[in-house]
Amino acid sequence: MAKRPHPIQYQGSKRNLASNIFKFLPKTVDRLVEPFAGTAAISVAASFEGIAQKFWINDLNRPLVELLKLIVENPETISNAYKDIWNEQHSNSIEHYYQVREKFNRTSDPLVFLYLLARCVKGAVRYNSEGFFNQSPDKRRKGTQPERMRKNIEGVSKLLKDKCIFTYLDYKEVLTGIRPNDFVYMDPPYQGVCGDRDSRYFSGISFDDFVSSLEALNQKGVAFAVSYDGKRGDKIFGNSLPERLGLEKIEIEVGRSSQATLLGRDEVTVESLYLSSSLLHDSITDIKSYLSQVPKQLIFTKQYG
Ligand SMILES: C[S@@+](CC[C@H](N)C(=O)[O-])C[C@H]1O[C@@H](n2cnc3c(N)ncnc32)[C@H](O)[C@@H]1O
Repeated sequence: MAKRPHPIQYQGSKRNLASNIFKFLPKTVDRLVEPFAGTAAISVAASFEGIAQKFWINDLNRPLVELLKLIVENPETISNAYKDIWNEQHSNSIEHYYQVREKFNRTSDPLVFLYLLARCVKGAVRYNSEGFFNQSPDKRRKGTQPERMRKNIEGVSKLLKDKCIFTYLDYKEVLTGIRPNDFVYMDPPYQGVCGDRDSRYFSGISFDDFVSSLEALNQKGVAFAVSYDGKRGDKIFGNSLPERLGLEKIEIEVGRSSQATLLGRDEVTVESLYLSSSLLHDSITDIKSYLSQVPKQLIFTKQYG
């Protein structure tokens, strides 16, 4: 079977988790809405798996959304631009990276952004307090080869062309525009330790506002899933979503820390996926059969009750 394409390196991408997340979603949905799309990894995977044929891709990070739009609608243009920038780096790769970064911070040009994402440390999008992209170059790698990048771009374009709306709104605006038959997948920025802002992403969000938005979705009877808190070993990161939302919490094992294993500790990283009650009515049998097949890979906790 063909592999799922992925042109954009992005820390926090749900690319590797998509198949596990889909075990809990309906087999098909009318339209998939991603208010915090990032690289739209879930939309790409949902098209690949035939789960959805219509998508609304939103993220507050405008250059990121413009880049996704170019990938989907103008694959040739962005592939050529990437190749040209990539080929310029050979004389002094590090210096070249800083020049490209400076250009991006001046222009917000999405053609330039793809190269920065491919070339920066861990694909981690980091901004300083003035909103400038300030991640350093990865000194050991040159970034995806242009021909490989072109294949990934063409793959994503084939999967999503003529099927998407692209916006760069605040998530709350997206949620007010949701239709009753939409399915909403939400992967908000990690809950930072220092207030609402997290330099890993463009912006943070307020916990209370987010909970109110989920309440409003519940009232409309919209089906949704949220990737939220998690834990590594005994360490919990992020608040749980409150009980009054009536969500079902699934814990998905996403990996083991090799560092901890070396130190003799068995540290498993687990991410929570919350399912709206409207969703659960449709898919509970699938959840049960999945659990019986791979009980060790996934921990299912019935949160309330
Ligand atoms: C954890 S990432 C999503 C990753 C994505 N699931 C993927 O697979 O690539 C969270 C995203 O939320 C976006 N974001 C932050 N604040 C936002 C807001 N108020 N409204 C919409 N998007 C926001 C960030 O720019 C970031 O791309």
